[in-house]
Formats: sequence, C-alpha cells, structure tokens
Amino acid sequence: MLEKKLMKEIHIKAAAKINWSLEITGRREDGYHLLRSLMQQVSLYDSLDLKLAEEDRCFCSALVDQENLAFRAWLALKRQLSLEECLEIHIRKQIPIGAGLAGGSADAAAVLMGANQLLSLGLSSEDLCLLGLSLGADIPFCLRGGACLVEGIGELLQDLAKIPSYWLVLANPGFSVGTPQVFREYDRVGSRQKVDIPAVVDCLEMGQRELLPSLWGNQLYEAACNLYPSLSRIPEFFLSLGLQPLMSGSGGSFFALCEGQAQAEAAAAELRRHVHWAAAVQTLN
Ligand code: C5P
Repeated sequence: MLEKKLMKEIHIKAAAKINWSLEITGRREDGYHLLRSLMQQVSLYDSLDLKLAEEDRCFCSALVDQENLAFRAWLALKRQLSLEECLEIHIRKQIPIGAGLAGGSADAAAVLMGANQLLSLGLSSEDLCLLGLSLGADIPFCLRGGACLVEGIGELLQDLAKIPSYWLVLANPGFSVGTPQVFREYDRVGSRQKVDIPAVVDCLEMGQRELLPSLWGNQLYEAACNLYPSLSRIPEFFLSLGLQPLMSGSGGSFFALCEGQAQAEAAAAELRRHVHWAAAVQTLN
C-alpha cells in the first residue's frame, strides 16, 4: 500500500523481437494459425512512461489513442479488474510499425507489466499472459522476453537460455504489413520453405552461424511477398553484401547475422541506401 502511494510514475523499455524461424503447423477453428517459431528479443526499443493521471490518455509518437494496442491493453486490464485509477501513457517509438518485429505487442506487454507494478496489482506472469493473449498472439512472448521456442498460437513458451549473443542487421521497407492479410494469403498459397527448428536451435546454441541459412525459414514469406511484391527485392540488397537474410514474423522486416558490431553497422549503413530503415542490433537473453 505504501509503495502504491509512493510510486506515481514508471519508465519501461519495450524490446523488439525477431523470428529465427517460423513454421505453420495447423489452423484452429477460430481461424488462428498454430505455429512453431523461435523468437528472440533484440536491442531495439520503444520507451514508455506510465503515470497516474486524472483521465486515461495515450500519447504516442506514431499512433493515436484507440488504435494503439498498448492503450487497449491498459483499458482491458482496467476493465477486467474494475480499477478506478487512470493512467497517462507516453510512447516514443523506435521499432518500425507493422514490421514483423512485435513493436505493438512489446508496448502492450510493457504496459501490462508497468501497470501491474505501478498500481501494485499483484498479478502473476500467468495472469498477465492470459490477458495478453486475448489482445495479441505475440504478447505472451513479449512478457516473457529473452529467447523462446513458441508454439500454439503464441502462448506455449519454452525458454532457450543457452543462445549466445549475436549481432544482426535489420532492414524494413517503410510500410506496414497487415498480419491478418498475410495469414489469409498463406491459407491460399501455402509455402515451399523447409524449416528445421530443432536444428536451428542447436546451431544457435553452438554458435554455428554459417549453417543457419540452410536450416532456417519463414513459411509466411511467400504470402507476404504475394501481397507486397516489393518485399521480394529486399533479400537482393542483403545478398549483394554477402549476407543471407530471413524475414521476421509476417514481414516486412528482414534480418541477417553478422560477424560482430562493426560488420552489422557497416551493413546497416549500406542497406539504408536501398531501404527505408536499417539498424544494427544485438540479441538479448
Ligand atoms: O494476435 P495478433 O493481433 O498478433 O494477430 C493478428 C491476426 O493475425 C489475427 O487476427 C489472425 O488473423 C492472424 N494470426 C493467426 N495466427 C497466429 C497469429 C496471428 O492467424 N498465430
């Protein structure tokens, strides 16, 4: 109680994620797809400030109130627990939007964790995950963080703690990709990508970078390129730098492994000549 009175404001960093691989394994009756994926957070962050206020408001450097998943997460939490407090949420976006990097989900997870702490709600990780899952399939992973094997529609998580740190270069075309549309297109066109997730995990854990591109894959790649044909040009820019790219999530961001920070930064500078946005990032554990 004392803590609740003292704490008026909280600052949180919300990290983006990549998918080292993504395989579709089935489809639920409600239309959601069952998947097996390997997700890991990377050092690209949105920053959020949550503070007690007279009314609920959300200020975001890129999106407005109701459209914002983070704000919707707060309103859902407030409704579920019949809370009387109001929050003002400020979000400074660095993570590209609609980019397959779970930026919106990371912000929503940060709001759920931040509100839980700020208001001393005492919710467990399981409580937060259940509420998070009702708002977005990537939110349970964003709440857990690190690196995980992800199954179900995104709610079954197994920690992968032995993956060493890697430097990556990330690139994004500068337009949003619609996740529901990509999944729907997948239902129509399927995928020819072969993915060996256990082998990808082994390679990552053992630091065998050069083997990864022959094992990893993203079965949403063809669907995303069908809907957004310009995406299929992005791999060429990576390949011209001697880097093997993989699409993250439902697109349109791509990433490639680099030998270290210097190579990742040089590649990002080079990629920026061809794509809207590129950055060097490090994986987080
Ligand atoms: O849950 P989220 O908002 O991330 O998903 C957006 C849409 O993507 C869903 O409404 C659904 O159409 C599709 N989706 C899916 N299977 C998943 C995740 C998302 O079909 N596992």
